Amino acid sequence: MIKRVRSWLNQEDSQQAHRISPDNIPHHVAIIMDGNGRWAKRRGMPRIVGHQNGMKAVKRAAIAADDLGIKILTMYAFSTENWKRPKDEVDFLMKLPQEFLAIELEELIQKNVQVRMMGHPEDLPQHTRDAMEEAVARTASNTGLVLNFALNYGSRKEITESIRALGKDIREGTLLPEDITEEMVGERLLSGDLPDPDLLIRTSGELRLSNFMLWQLAYSELWFTDIYWPEFTKEHLIEAVAEYQHRTRRYGGLS
Ligand code: IPE
Ligand code: IPE
Ligand code: MG
Repeated sequence: MIKRVRSWLNQEDSQQAHRISPDNIPHHVAIIMDGNGRWAKRRGMPRIVGHQNGMKAVKRAAIAADDLGIKILTMYAFSTENWKRPKDEVDFLMKLPQEFLAIELEELIQKNVQVRMMGHPEDLPQHTRDAMEEAVARTASNTGLVLNFALNYGSRKEITESIRALGKDIREGTLLPEDITEEMVGERLLSGDLPDPDLLIRTSGELRLSNFMLWQLAYSELWFTDIYWPEFTKEHLIEAVAEYQHRTRRYGGLS
């Protein structure tokens, strides 16, 4: 794996790629894909054109992550708060997973990608759920990049549900409050058995988490860029990883 990444980095002509060391690649990268609407507005086009182009950036990011040897790529595609948007825009966003998978699923299967979904499926339209469930089922045994879509995802909701599940165990007498551990809270989140992200990327210049992985990002490195999501290319991912490699992660201790 390291050899494959090294040879990919060597054939890249950017300066940044040569700065990257193949043996310190972040294992899990999470991305808040933001700025689709502003990208379109700047071009005098409707917001949905931004979302359409954002889909192409998802493909670019997934390929680049795989080439870089990143194992898990989590993409924030729709938050539990995004339902507040106009119905037309929500309807369009709910069609995108289907459209994306209709075009890309065969290639994702060929590339050994495992598609996952992290979110609350019960509120999604049936067609969106079906598309996601099909992709998840057909790629479940793949062992390559884990491409994890956060769809109708809200971190406060997932934490609340984790607490509720623990509360049930207490009521049923199988758990004592004093026995609750951080691991038990973490396991019951929607990210389940996925390790915490090492690196969080947010595009569009906003410096906030917008209810994304509040628990899991406790010690992640954060990287923000002003570019809008539809402009995101492998060079940006390489730049983020290069900067990640210059950070010292201390987890509260000393380096
Ligand atoms: C991110 O782009 C995509 C989603 C939240 C679904 P936005 O739609 O938030 O674009 P801006 O932030 O309004 O430019
Ligand atoms: C966060 O972006 C959600 C996704 C990228 C899916 P938003 O555009 O919804 O965040 P706010 O409203 O600017 O915080
Ligand atoms: Mg936004």
